[in-house]
Amino acid sequence: MPHSSARLAVVEKPIAEPSPTAEVVVLKFGSSILQDQSCAPAVASEIYGHVRAGRKVIAVVSALGGHTDRLFADARALGLDHENDLLPGYVALGEEKAAALVAIACDRIGLDAAALSVRELGIVADGPAEHAHPVSLRSDALWKALADHQVVVVPGFGAVGEKGKVVLLGRGGSDLTAVFLAAELGLSRVRLVKDVDGLYDRDPASASGKPLRYRRASWDDARRHGGALVQHDAIDMGLQRSVEIEVAALGRADCTVVGDHSAPPGPSIPDAPLKVAIAGCGVVGGGLLQRLLKDNRFQVVGVLVRDPSKPRDVEAPAELFTSDRESLLALRPDILLEALSEGAAGHDLIRAALERGIDVASANKQAISRDPAGLADAARAHGSHLAYSAAVGGGAPMIETLRVARAAGPVKGFEAVLNGTVNFMLTRLQAGADFADALADARVAGFAEEDPSSDLEGRDSAAKVRLLAFEAFGRTPAEADVPCAVLSEAFKPAGPVRQIGACVRDGEGLRASVSLDVGLDDPFFQSLDGERNALKVYGEDGRVWSCKGRGAGRWPTTESVLADLADIVRARHASLGHH
Ligand code: NAP
Ligand code: HSE
Repeated sequence: MPHSSARLAVVEKPIAEPSPTAEVVVLKFGSSILQDQSCAPAVASEIYGHVRAGRKVIAVVSALGGHTDRLFADARALGLDHENDLLPGYVALGEEKAAALVAIACDRIGLDAAALSVRELGIVADGPAEHAHPVSLRSDALWKALADHQVVVVPGFGAVGEKGKVVLLGRGGSDLTAVFLAAELGLSRVRLVKDVDGLYDRDPASASGKPLRYRRASWDDARRHGGALVQHDAIDMGLQRSVEIEVAALGRADCTVVGDHSAPPGPSIPDAPLKVAIAGCGVVGGGLLQRLLKDNRFQVVGVLVRDPSKPRDVEAPAELFTSDRESLLALRPDILLEALSEGAAGHDLIRAALERGIDVASANKQAISRDPAGLADAARAHGSHLAYSAAVGGGAPMIETLRVARAAGPVKGFEAVLNGTVNFMLTRLQAGADFADALADARVAGFAEEDPSSDLEGRDSAAKVRLLAFEAFGRTPAEADVPCAVLSEAFKPAGPVRQIGACVRDGEGLRASVSLDVGLDDPFFQSLDGERNALKVYGEDGRVWSCKGRGAGRWPTTESVLADLADIVRARHASLGHH
């Protein structure tokens, strides 16, 4: 059968060894970051950046802002003054709730996340019940969660005392939880994400004159100037267990590293907000606009749409909207985020932007797959950056996975579930849903293209196969050379079925297809429900790389474009010689 031939040739290759074990990072998010539940998406965003870079994340969280004080007050008002052993168990619920909330925010963007309770985490501590000291880790649940998930969100501050009751690690104790976990994992660093971008020689919020920021601070500097910024027990634990402490702000690569060495602090020049233009204000563009209007690192200067007077589901100043491409570019944005539903218009806009030296992140696979090499050349020639992770796999980091595989050696081929709409519909059809209802639900959820025939006829997946082929082999099969199976009402799945896009090196040529594989027995693809997508890349040496995630929808896709934006910002800083 011509449609399945590309993938059969790939999967017959024996697998010699699994993908390399992922690096683990411990990040801590305090109440100054998690002020209320609306802050959870920004925390998930920070976590997403690490997962996309191939790391597993242990996220330690504090309770939402003000919560701990309220819980203490409740428990004190009701409990006995002279003996209130159960108070810590009540107060620690604040962190457990925040952990569950952050895990939900991670799941929304397609990260495979689990949240543990204080008891499941199993930090054992001794000493006073409200200011105990961690001594060991009953780590079974943590190790299992780490093996099974990309992200494990754990409550800071709480531990299990000698008598089996929940105890607390002192105010600010989530810092200590994070440093202790990093030490137990044998890591040399932990990252505490705060509402300031590092340690200053005086409190930047209250100091007169210009506070100076440390890039490297000694343990003593941190004790002297840290004040309430880093818990002192955590500083002591970092010193004793040789775990350097990074103090950083959300979304910033730059930080202060607290450790054995110090360097004199210097002036910190705040970056001016970068000017961002957004093209499209539908499912994806609307998500981007909503997130960026709340992010003071960026100034949204304009939004390109077909009809500026159309009501939007995002509140934004009317004067931002234009239907004129040249007016948008004349605003001289630093970066364009492109999420138009039209391939040709998107391609022309991206090229025009790159030629003006504007960096571009695009979600538009029909635009990029027209001529990825030409667009990459235009970016190089004009010193601009081009990124398009969201164009393939939505929130699943497929482009990054292919780049990692390719950097490790020649790629033989890849196979993938690439269309969220079709996978969502197949899941529903298998459960007995009506075809029209399944399609209507996919459209309401924001998975389907403006013209869903592109999803159903396999053209959307074919464009993604062509883009992945460009990453894998440096060239794309012609559109006509990617035969596509159509999902129509006549298709009645009897057993497990997945739409598989594949491309394999075949002598000097490439063989590619988008097929409907009935009776697919690979549990990796079989386990994908709803809009989830997944990719397997096969190296010539038999190694396999893989990734999964939510392949469509506002939030996973927005996250992917924002991660591209973060990469572009880092690249801009690097080219300007910033840290
Ligand atoms: P959408 O909801 O249909 O929104 C498309 C937006 O593009 C609309 O705001 C529309 O303006 C604007 N637009 C289209 N053509 C235009 C033109 N020639 N000039 C000016 N504005 C134009 O689409 P979407 O779901 O956000 O998808 C956007 C892009 O992201 C597509 O390329 C899609 O393939 C890709 N993508 C989508 C998802 C997803 O899950 N939805 C995931 C990954 C990638 P009006 O509102 O005025 O009509
Ligand atoms: N329509 C596409 C899909 C959007 O369903 O996969 C993500 O590219």
